[in-house]
Amino acid sequence: MSTDNPRTIAILGGTGKEGKGLAFRWALAGHKIIIGSRTSEKALAAVEDVKTLIGKPVTISGKDNNSAAKEAEIVVLTVPYSFHKEMLESIKNDVQGKLFIDVTVPLIPPKVTRVQMPPEGSACLQAQLILGENVRVVAAFQNISYENLLSGKKIDCDVLVAGGDKDSRGQVISLVRDAGLMGIDAGPIENTVVVEGLTSILIGINKQFGVEASGIRITGIPRE
Ligand SMILES: NC(=O)c1ccc[n+]([C@@H]2O[C@H](COP(=O)([O-])OP(=O)(O)OC[C@H]3O[C@@H](n4cnc5c(N)ncnc54)[C@H](OP(=O)(O)O)[C@@H]3O)[C@@H](O)[C@H]2O)c1
Repeated sequence: MSTDNPRTIAILGGTGKEGKGLAFRWALAGHKIIIGSRTSEKALAAVEDVKTLIGKPVTISGKDNNSAAKEAEIVVLTVPYSFHKEMLESIKNDVQGKLFIDVTVPLIPPKVTRVQMPPEGSACLQAQLILGENVRVVAAFQNISYENLLSGKKIDCDVLVAGGDKDSRGQVISLVRDAGLMGIDAGPIENTVVVEGLTSILIGINKQFGVEASGIRITGIPRE
């Protein structure tokens, strides 16, 4: 879906599977995307991958994570949980006053089908604690597989959006729509424990049914 409100969005760890999937969807929608990486060379290579996938001119660049976070108005984090804390501490100063979308799921191998929340309650609660009150931390896309994002096809799943305040959840719901999905306001940051926890259940369901990308859909609500 194309946007009438282009935003500058940094995707930190955007060289990975989920980050590239989001970059693909949002660049296609007309947002200005900055892929962040520990090395700008890797970020630039990911930019080329996304451009090739899209096959038409889009606004996308690649930078080191700190430069990407500094330049953007919205910052998205897509790194494995084992590097979550370290990444948050390293970009804390660059994201003050911004909207921060945390896609991280606190998976702790090898038991990734078991919900294992950090002592703070969830990855998002941990992010809020580290980044401070001046950053609006919102959870989204935890239950959407990268295979679905990169397929370019319509995705038969909904996105639960929790955390921040009503306005920041509304902004994220618009970005979810631009990525071709329906976002649903799932309430305050305490509820991110459920959003993040669902991913372990979906990974278990994938294993049971031999599929790659099971998802959730909320029933009984009006749809556009
Ligand atoms: N994959 C999915 O389908 C999916 C779905 C929903 C949610 N998620 C969540 O999204 C997050 C990313 O998943 P992913 O599958 O995209 O992960 P990934 O491809 O394995 O890694 C993403 C990026 O993390 C960065 N990274 C690796 N080691 C790092 C370190 N020591 N410090 C900082 N950054 C490091 C790398 O970027 P550079 O090397 O370029 O720095 C890498 O490209 C995870 O928390 C995951 O649970 C994933």
